[in-house]
Amino acid sequence: MKREIIITSDGSSTIHIPEWNEQYHSKHGAIQEAYHVFIKHGLEYVLDKSLTSTKGEKISILEIGFGTGLNTLITLIEAEKKQVQIEYCGVEAYPISDEEVNHLNYVSELHIEEKSGVFEAIHNSSWEVKHEINEGFSLTKQKKFFKDITDSNLYDLIYFDAFGARVQPELWTEAIFSIMFKALKEGGVLVTYAAKGSVRRAMQAVGFTVTKLPGPPGKREMLRGEKVKSEK
Ligand SMILES: C[S@@+](CC[C@H](N)C(=O)[O-])C[C@H]1O[C@@H](n2cnc3c(N)ncnc32)[C@H](O)[C@@H]1O
Repeated sequence: MKREIIITSDGSSTIHIPEWNEQYHSKHGAIQEAYHVFIKHGLEYVLDKSLTSTKGEKISILEIGFGTGLNTLITLIEAEKKQVQIEYCGVEAYPISDEEVNHLNYVSELHIEEKSGVFEAIHNSSWEVKHEINEGFSLTKQKKFFKDITDSNLYDLIYFDAFGARVQPELWTEAIFSIMFKALKEGGVLVTYAAKGSVRRAMQAVGFTVTKLPGPPGKREMLRGEKVKSEK
């Protein structure tokens, strides 16, 4: 499918798919959305929880839809600031090209010119192999379909960032959310920008305890699901 780079309302770039009229991020601001959904309501929430339960441990993150690498980049930046170690796994079936990577403006929009090498390393790292991108931040990119994820009890946090249900309804089903639920550790958390009732019900049906949260600019709500620890 044809892809083109566009600029969103906060000045940061994203990729647009004309055939679907769908973007990799919100048109209201790619960086703004990524920070709100995945950092504020995902990483920071898990870190706040872990103060009492998993202090000192590494946080392991699974990203559903590695795409442009924006979520990976901002997670690395925040992990450094918060002095937390991260094991990051990004799953992606249709990697973007080097040319597309070169046209993304995240390094300049985030004012992290000193980190341009890191963004390159994120993209240049080979698939299926674990790489230390930075001290305390490892990345494994896996080229495969989401339906083929077989991990069990492995992740503290899932960034569920698939294209919307309007264009890929098959990715917002009980079948996919049960794969996610299994991949999470007990006490693990899944965050997504989506807020549709059918998505919330699919998450609840496979066992998630779901909370509606305020969405990023341009979106009223988003969802967070937790794999609540079972009583022993
Ligand atoms: C909304 S975009 C992800 C945006 C990404 N998180 C970022 O920060 O750029 C959804 C991603 O899922 C990928 N994708 C779509 N269907 C997939 C599937 N069935 N399995 C694996 N990847 C898929 C797309 O190629 C795209 O990169």
